Amino acid sequence: MATRFILDCDTGSDDAVAIFAATAHPGLELVAVTTVNGNAAVEHTTENTLRVLDHAGARVPVHAGAARPLARPDFPVPRAVLNAGSAFQRAHLDFPAAVSVPERRSAVPFLVDAYMDDSYADVTLVATGPLTNVALALATEPRLAARIPRLVIMGGAHGNGNVTAAAEFNFWVDPEAASAVLGAGIRDVVIMSLDATHSAPLSRADCDAFDGIGTPAASGAAQLIRHRIEHDQAGVEGSGDVSSPVHDPMCVAFLVRPDVVTESVRAFVSVETTGSRTLGELLVDTRPWCPEPPNATVALRASAEVYRDFLRTAFLAN
Ligand code: RIB
Ligand code: CA
Repeated sequence: MATRFILDCDTGSDDAVAIFAATAHPGLELVAVTTVNGNAAVEHTTENTLRVLDHAGARVPVHAGAARPLARPDFPVPRAVLNAGSAFQRAHLDFPAAVSVPERRSAVPFLVDAYMDDSYADVTLVATGPLTNVALALATEPRLAARIPRLVIMGGAHGNGNVTAAAEFNFWVDPEAASAVLGAGIRDVVIMSLDATHSAPLSRADCDAFDGIGTPAASGAAQLIRHRIEHDQAGVEGSGDVSSPVHDPMCVAFLVRPDVVTESVRAFVSVETTGSRTLGELLVDTRPWCPEPPNATVALRASAEVYRDFLRTAFLAN
């Protein structure tokens, strides 16, 4: 029985690899995609999502979502300033212009209608972008907090952030949304932190292996990961190869290979929404005497071997 899920994403390169894996893996059923402002403006993350689905030969409904953060007019530092001169995340992924088009219903009403429908009672929500759409859906219909069976989030860091020393990009872009979602009371929340994704980077040799598979998903993923390795300041040199963390597909891998996570902690988590130097920080309260009950499982380390095996299985099946 395939694991059914909805992917809420800000399709940039690693979201795109997640979509390639999600649409190909035999143990997964990608029910729908909702898009959000993040790596690029929502019109671009929507077009990129459609391009990737077309390239994979997958027919999955796509619902465009929020164009700006929940409570702010823009990122804490505007994207153009933050990414000045960077080619790491591009507005247009290098695939042919999309032929497929988004659904008429936008992301938030779709998410509300879906999770108010009992037939979605087993559908996991995976969020690999800023949590604006998820927060808006919960604000629109608070009963969703009890009806979303599991939420798997790419975000946060227990150690170093990637936008600031404290904050990871998805939580930093929309800290109010991240805070609201983590405080909503969803019963099963798993946070795939930077600590986990950085512990299992993918390398040029992995890209060569994916290219050897030869399917559209495999070659598309190899192209995207090579671009990340080439432009990622978080790239890691070692044993004659270079590797880079590829964050979002690890959330999808977790759905069918929970053993991809080798270390995690159950804790009460929250997100900083006012700090001048800590805005967007994920606070993981592991104090034995913490007054608040745990509200999330935070993944802290991952297995590169399991991660590669998941991706290989998916790409072979495309
Ligand atoms: O910090 C990494 C996360 O931010 C990834 O999901 C990446 O795609 C961006 O959304
Ligand atoms: Ca993302």
